[in-house]
Amino acid sequence: MIQVVVDGFFGDTGKGKIAAYLATADDPTLCVRTGAPNAGHTITVAGETHVLRTIPTCFVNPKTKLAVAPGALIRVDLFLAEAEKYGAGRTFLDPQTGVIEERHVEFEKSDEFLMKTVGSTGQGVGAAMVDRALRRLKLARDFDILKPYLADVPALVHQSRDGGVVVEGTQGTFLSLYHGTYPYVTSRDTTASGLLSEVGIGPKAVDHVILVFKAFVTRVGGGPLPGELTPEEAERRGWTERGAVTGRPRRVAPFQIELAKRAVLLNTPTQIAITKIDVLFKEAAGAEKWSDLPLEARKWVEEIENQLKTPITLLGTGPAPHHVVDMRREKGV
Ligand code: IMP
Ligand code: MG
Repeated sequence: MIQVVVDGFFGDTGKGKIAAYLATADDPTLCVRTGAPNAGHTITVAGETHVLRTIPTCFVNPKTKLAVAPGALIRVDLFLAEAEKYGAGRTFLDPQTGVIEERHVEFEKSDEFLMKTVGSTGQGVGAAMVDRALRRLKLARDFDILKPYLADVPALVHQSRDGGVVVEGTQGTFLSLYHGTYPYVTSRDTTASGLLSEVGIGPKAVDHVILVFKAFVTRVGGGPLPGELTPEEAERRGWTERGAVTGRPRRVAPFQIELAKRAVLLNTPTQIAITKIDVLFKEAAGAEKWSDLPLEARKWVEEIENQLKTPITLLGTGPAPHHVVDMRREKGV
């Protein structure tokens, strides 16, 4: 079975946490991460919070093999540090994975349009994608120090299908270079199809597309955010967050059903996950069963499910991988 986890808003919906849950609940053979180190995926294990920039959060299952997609980009130092810390002996890199170099970072950090208007994370990702398109980017296979990690990732996915594969998406639908709020977007297609292409999986091989929303919407950097609240109002509601990579305060808005409908249209999900239910409904904190959620929360979820016409199967109720209400079996998906 191949499952793809894709973010339905502007990133930071908690897809890393959902991927980590799937890693423990479904015990997949392999988990593949897409994207680049401009994204930070946060997961809390045994009270300790980790921000992963390269390695899949599925590391929480020590039996799951971890891989980085050929269409992804790494920074060598970050990759080596994370592979050692989180996935020693079970982390693989495709020979074709792109490598970001210092000059890419320097270029972005000195580019006013990117840094001021777009609000780039300045991690050199866009500059490296330019070099990739111009066919001068170095790939993982060009670095001796990466040789021990190299493996044919599309072939690994193919061999691991029976045991289960989770593809961990990156950023969010509306940061997609093609489908997002251009030019306030990232430098790749972040929708389900884009993620599959990055890994090397044909659309027919996929069993589940899990679209992840958060109970409220956040965005870092420039660009439109319908329904945006003032920072004071966000604070009052307890919705204040900071960017995992940049530490910038995230802009905040209430859940946007129209945006969610558009994300459904763009990603064709088979299931929907909604995280941080406990931030909207305090009594939901730590719940692992539908019946343990407050009535108000259940009504809110049912209303969204009716509007999106897609089963809502996973609800995040706290920061640890097991803080999830999993209704996949009940809903027959
Ligand atoms: P870049 O991809 O770092 O150049 O950033 C382009 C835009 O995407 C900026 O608005 C960033 O804040 C946003 N962005 C990039 N990566 C992430 C992410 O992982 N989460 C949230 N926003 C991101
Ligand atoms: Mg993030």
